[in-house]
Amino acid sequence: MHLCSNCLHTHTGQRQVNTFELDPDIQATDVNSTAEGLRIIWSQGQHQSLYPWEWLSKHIPFNAAPTAKHPRQDWYHVKPASAQNVQTDYDTVMNSDAGLGVFLEQIRTTGFSFVPNTPATPEATEKLLQRIAFIRPTQYGAFWDFTSEVKPVDTAYTNLELPLHTDTTYFNDPAGLQLFHCLQVATEGGGQSTFSDTFAAAAQLYKINPDYYNILSSVRIASHASGSSSTFGSFMNNASHAGGFPVFTHSVPHIRPHPKNLTHVRWNNDDRHSSTQWPSHERMIVWYRAAKVWQELLASKEFQWQAQLQPGTPIIFDNWRIAHGRTAFDGQRRICGGYIGMDEFLARGRMISARLRADAQPGSEKTSEEEKNEEKVKKEQEEEEKIEKEQPETVEPDVLPQKDEGLDRPIAS
Ligand SMILES: [Fe+2]
Repeated sequence: MHLCSNCLHTHTGQRQVNTFELDPDIQATDVNSTAEGLRIIWSQGQHQSLYPWEWLSKHIPFNAAPTAKHPRQDWYHVKPASAQNVQTDYDTVMNSDAGLGVFLEQIRTTGFSFVPNTPATPEATEKLLQRIAFIRPTQYGAFWDFTSEVKPVDTAYTNLELPLHTDTTYFNDPAGLQLFHCLQVATEGGGQSTFSDTFAAAAQLYKINPDYYNILSSVRIASHASGSSSTFGSFMNNASHAGGFPVFTHSVPHIRPHPKNLTHVRWNNDDRHSSTQWPSHERMIVWYRAAKVWQELLASKEFQWQAQLQPGTPIIFDNWRIAHGRTAFDGQRRICGGYIGMDEFLARGRMISARLRADAQPGSEKTSEEEKNEEKVKKEQEEEEKIEKEQPETVEPDVLPQKDEGLDRPIAS
């Protein structure tokens, strides 16, 4: 860390010195071990640096191993029978930073969270997403609210069954989080949502057949969204990016792929582009065999679970990890929701954790002015909610599905 104000911008923390104008043979002229860390004065321009001890302990020079755990490595699997217990109440998320911190951590580690007691309106759902970060617009719009369509741009807008998949595999940076809020359950039946933890299924695949895991980690697959709107034309896709991406992406790609370094799964057979770029005929056959076993694992009772989403209880999930699908339905079904970028989600989580840690330090008690301001904001929110509740609702909020409802049912085919 530079101490010179002319080397580091005091507000933005950005480097202000042209590193490449420094003499490559620059020397330390003074080195001091202090309580804060190692202080160094350099031979050129009296530049000063301070290396905190904690930072030094994590940044061992010339060590190729990652200096910290990747934020997406720190996860655990929730078994299908317990999935519907993973939840954070709407008021907790909206009205408390500590509650928001718990919610974000839950999504980061389990891959998803239900949010009971959410007002069953698009407005409240949009606010819930914006509590995390700005909504990420795509060719489908930003915040969406839809029923089935006659001429859809994507099968998501039909009443057809959707097999387990992750969204936007055709982007170089697929959507990070996705939220679904079912404002109207299918009026004539069907439309159960399906979910599967791809990280847990991938770990299982590695155990069963490491070669299959390896080929899904190495062969690049291109994807496309060909039904997209006339604004973008046929939405092609990451085929132009060196032939797409493998199904499994790892945080340390230079070593042999292993589930402990898995950070991203892209899986959408419906959007998979036709390919002629296979490394060899043999490898192509192995890839298809691996993909078949992988798809069966994802849809097995061990990993897949079903839920009838209800008005008042949206689900938000990690689109880089939790595959989702849907059984076919009849009649009208209304869903609203949106995407949030992975960078925004992770940054918000880090920021909230840092703020909560700082608040927990002695001497960081809130001033009476801050408390007064918080109370004022809370009162204004309550007023807004009161007005909202007085508006006639188009959909009655329903009860949260019972713990075991919809579980262990036959998987839709
Ligand atoms: Fe989808």
